[in-house]
Amino acid sequence: MRESMTNYYAQRATTYESIYHKPERQADLQLLQQRLIALLADQKVLEVACGTGYWTEFFAPVATSVMATDINPAMLEVARGKNYPAGKVQFSGADAFAMHVPDMGNYSACFAGFLWSHVKREEQADVLAQLSKAAGKGTTLVLIDNNYVEGSSGTIARTDLEGNTHQLRMQEDGSRVEIVKNFPTDSFLRKRIGLAARDIRIFRTEHFWMLKCTLK
Ligand SMILES: C[S@@+](CC[C@H](N)C(=O)[O-])C[C@H]1O[C@@H](n2cnc3c(N)ncnc32)[C@H](O)[C@@H]1O
Repeated sequence: MRESMTNYYAQRATTYESIYHKPERQADLQLLQQRLIALLADQKVLEVACGTGYWTEFFAPVATSVMATDINPAMLEVARGKNYPAGKVQFSGADAFAMHVPDMGNYSACFAGFLWSHVKREEQADVLAQLSKAAGKGTTLVLIDNNYVEGSSGTIARTDLEGNTHQLRMQEDGSRVEIVKNFPTDSFLRKRIGLAARDIRIFRTEHFWMLKCTLK
């Protein structure tokens, strides 16, 4: 399952940002951009699963430095093409399930956009441990992800025995692939993330949630 998610995004590198063009999401996106900029100002940021660098482009100007990572070279190639202040952003390949990044454990903030929803419930503790190891204990962790919104979100195809929800996604060649896409409640986020972090704050708009915490 993990591989199907990784491969799905590999072939979406050049079309991925269409999700950010949905008209009904624009006001929420602006709010999140402002909040993210405030949270990551003056931080040495490790970004996990940076994708095309959509969010990187917003916060790089205010961060002290950014190490933007993703498992997919095709995503990193698109991200490298964005506009950043000179010398601020470096890129590196990294697997969120087995993190090896330059300057391991020496970041002040870790950011992952739209990764958490694709992590199975039974793998979430492992991923948090990987982020803590890579970014460092005491690091601020910021996650952004989707709420389920009828008519805007993709349909949920099934729920598995662990409670993970799965969506069918259309690939560029027209074939379909099933990927994990979870829509956690605040209480589920608090319980799961509270195992590895403290000072959890959750902010929700109609379409998105943003969580800030400190990794233990
Ligand atoms: C939904 S996209 C989010 C991209 C970006 N963070 C954003 O918010 O626009 C998910 C990203 O996770 C990356 N990815 C998939 N599997 C991964 C893994 N095991 N480790 C790190 N990144 C992974 C994909 O290549 C893709 O760029």
